[in-house]
Amino acid sequence: MKFQLSCILAFTHFLIAFAANPCIDYPDPLNPARFEFTDCPNIIEDDTEDLPNVERGIQNFFHVDINCYSNAILCKKIKKAFDDAGKEISKVLKLKKKIYVNATFESLSFSERNTLGSTYPTRSVFLISDDKITRLYPQALAKQFSLKTHPEYNKYDINSRFNADFSWWFKADNKKIKPYQYDFSVVVLHELIHGLGFISSWDNSLETDVYQYTTGLTPYYYFYGNKFDGFIENIFDRYLKVIENKKKIPSSYYTAQLNKSIPPMTPFYTRLEFTNKVKSSPQWKYAKLVLKAATTNNSIVFTPAKRTSWNQDIYLETSLKYFDAGSSISHVSQLKYRKTSDFIMTWQQFPGQTLEYFIQRGGNYKSPIGPRIISILESIGYATDTHPNPVKPTFHNH
Ligand SMILES: *[C@@H]1O[C@H](CO)[C@@H](O)[C@H](O)[C@H]1NC(C)=O
Ligand SMILES: *[C@@H]1O[C@H](CO)[C@@H](O)[C@H](O)[C@H]1NC(C)=O
Ligand SMILES: *[C@@H]1O[C@H](CO)[C@@H](O)[C@H](O)[C@H]1NC(C)=O
Ligand SMILES: [Zn+2]
Repeated sequence: MKFQLSCILAFTHFLIAFAANPCIDYPDPLNPARFEFTDCPNIIEDDTEDLPNVERGIQNFFHVDINCYSNAILCKKIKKAFDDAGKEISKVLKLKKKIYVNATFESLSFSERNTLGSTYPTRSVFLISDDKITRLYPQALAKQFSLKTHPEYNKYDINSRFNADFSWWFKADNKKIKPYQYDFSVVVLHELIHGLGFISSWDNSLETDVYQYTTGLTPYYYFYGNKFDGFIENIFDRYLKVIENKKKIPSSYYTAQLNKSIPPMTPFYTRLEFTNKVKSSPQWKYAKLVLKAATTNNSIVFTPAKRTSWNQDIYLETSLKYFDAGSSISHVSQLKYRKTSDFIMTWQQFPGQTLEYFIQRGGNYKSPIGPRIISILESIGYATDTHPNPVKPTFHNH
């Protein structure tokens, strides 16, 4: 499988060597490292003022298509759980455009047997944040900005896969949850929030893609047509700070340093050559520092944008000794927030407990989505009733 992966990447780079307006597709939510650069033509909306897709007053802004490989009764419950989760999110976020989800409920392979579910944006597009830095925005979020010109979007905004091999509990059954059962609604909510953009781009794929041990972390690298053109953060990362010797340093500072490791548009023959060049630069020390922080308790925080639902730093998940791309950084700290109203975005779920129980334990907040989680979503650009004008990015054609 790993071998196949590198072949696909090399092939893709060759094919799209002269594409003009790239964006990134993630065909498999269980394996986001298998992303593909795609050519996304510019789309000009004739009428962004009227927002033809806006249907304010609707209860559920999520449209979920489910590929359900199970019996009809279970599939019906799955559908209902998705609808309920969509409604919960639609209550707290002032969405302007519908979000289309491609969800699959199936047995997962042996290597994925511990995964409850996995979700990823189907596509991320390059937009320019308010601080003039280009970042990746998941299309579910990009859509909400109603940009007059924007890169083409996929039919689906979010890909989601759920493991049919677990024993799932559904509220509608009106039965007590068993100690080994998982409340499906918790997992769906959690996963949809990732799909909305609750994801850091910092990971170890620069090394793991070429079978090297992890010694540092980087954001995505713009490596297109076998040319390197910079490290690119997700919009989530705009608000990250690394705590180094008690000082809080924006993660974008580390990205800016890593950007100096190789001059723009340097061509390479292979991915391996590229990785080795980055690692032999003096800037690799910044990648090592971020890895250290990502595997040291309380060393990375999310500082919300001004006037959002939460005005203090939020600790992200950095308690795992070995960096785990799907778990570290892209969640709130489990040690700190598991028992608070922000439980929904901790990395592990525990069986035998229901969403209602977690809400109650967290202090009966009005929504299963706690104020810290809402402020993170507001910071990256989602509007809410109390934060109706989030910071908007711009789009410049390449
Ligand atoms: C929907 O998801 C399934 C499973 O991940 C995938 O095989 C399929 O190609 C997806 N459909 C679209 C239109 O992206
Ligand atoms: C890194 O370089 C890319 C390409 O030049 C640029 O778009 C991006 O804004 C830079 N990021 C930072 C944090 O400086
Ligand atoms: C973080 O703290 C917890 C509890 O104190 C401990 O079990 C864990 O090993 C720590 N993790 C790291 C990476 O230091
Ligand atoms: Zn998660």
